[in-house]
Amino acid sequence: MSFCFDEEIPREGTHSLKWSFRMQGPHLIYSEPEQPLAESEQLLPLWVADMDFRCAPAIIEAMQKRVAHGIYGYSAATPGYYAAISNWMQRRHHWTIDPDWIVITPGVVPALNLLVQTLLRPGEKVLVQRPVYYPFFSAAQNNGAGLVSNSLLNVAGDYRMDFEDLQRKTADPAVKLAFLCNPHNPVGRVWQHQELLRFGEICRANQVRVIADEIHGDLTHEGYRFTPFASLGSDFQQHSITCTAASKSFNLAGLTTSNIIIADPQLRERFVATLHRNGLLGANAFGLVATEAAYTHGESWLDAALAYIGENAAHLHAWLTQHLPGLRMSPLQGTYLAWVDCNALHLSAEARHRKIFEQARVYLDDGLLFGPEGRGFERFNLACSRHTLNRALQRLVRVLQADTG
Ligand SMILES: Cc1ncc(COP(=O)(O)O)c(C=O)c1O
Repeated sequence: MSFCFDEEIPREGTHSLKWSFRMQGPHLIYSEPEQPLAESEQLLPLWVADMDFRCAPAIIEAMQKRVAHGIYGYSAATPGYYAAISNWMQRRHHWTIDPDWIVITPGVVPALNLLVQTLLRPGEKVLVQRPVYYPFFSAAQNNGAGLVSNSLLNVAGDYRMDFEDLQRKTADPAVKLAFLCNPHNPVGRVWQHQELLRFGEICRANQVRVIADEIHGDLTHEGYRFTPFASLGSDFQQHSITCTAASKSFNLAGLTTSNIIIADPQLRERFVATLHRNGLLGANAFGLVATEAAYTHGESWLDAALAYIGENAAHLHAWLTQHLPGLRMSPLQGTYLAWVDCNALHLSAEARHRKIFEQARVYLDDGLLFGPEGRGFERFNLACSRHTLNRALQRLVRVLQADTG
């Protein structure tokens, strides 16, 4: 079956967070237009991580059947749901999991917050690897934990882990948890087996538990292989927690359903007790249907989407090379989020922001959101049609070309 990712699908009137912001003068306001806006009024959103692609036909079909039933009461997962996840992990990632290990939560971000509540005592710390997905910071800070960064090394745009620094930081007895982002948002690295092993061994030696956020695990580009952290060995599996969802890979984020995989029964019980303490019972009826359909019937769609995103990445790279030389994009090994070093522009952060946002009216995520290591960077969401990407690039070139070289 072939799938079309070139189609421009208006998202106005669908409660889309990504498309509902628009400019009013120099300000960004949240207001959802009912009708598509004229080109001149449109802010092109290449920010928050959802896709502009319609999801896999098998998911839509399963959802339509569920909608047609007409009753949307309290819902719980069936054995078929859990089997779909464990089969996917086996088939796609060669990781054997017991369906009993899966705990459903209304998102990975809520799960990270709940895990900090479950596992840390006041004064203890979480280790992160900046630049990194910024809700990692708030998951610690919201819940009274301290933060330590084992920042990544940027070697000419290619990111690596700093193991000597990791050794030093994890030696602090207050550091009890490490949030691993695998593949890494925003730098696009798919961590290799050897890197994960070294990371895991250092954490284990210092009794730091690894929370592996693998929500981007299915989004791995040609030539790279995703390794689930817990699949490295039974000891790692027993002591870590894996956060997954079909929401990034299959564009289901609004259905608020994610799967937290915890092999150790006592740890799982403690986590479930925290869910109950927060009144989090049951699951989203549509999230269950869509997730099961995605993992059971969605593979060919995902492969096609990945190929299209890979072409978008090559396109962005070629455009930057030709029109904005000096701006350097890190190789996109995984995710659909390109990380572009704009430090070569002869512009202050404010002037760059003004040009990109107010003049070009392109909404990118400023690298500083991901920590101070992201200063001078912009994150581009490439899960959009080539046409949208081209429009954004033309606008950017128009306002930035004079500032390069
Ligand atoms: C690394 C990472 N974790 C979690 C999320 C969001 O998870 P959820 O929507 O399930 O809360 C994102 C979204 O971009 C992400 O990049």
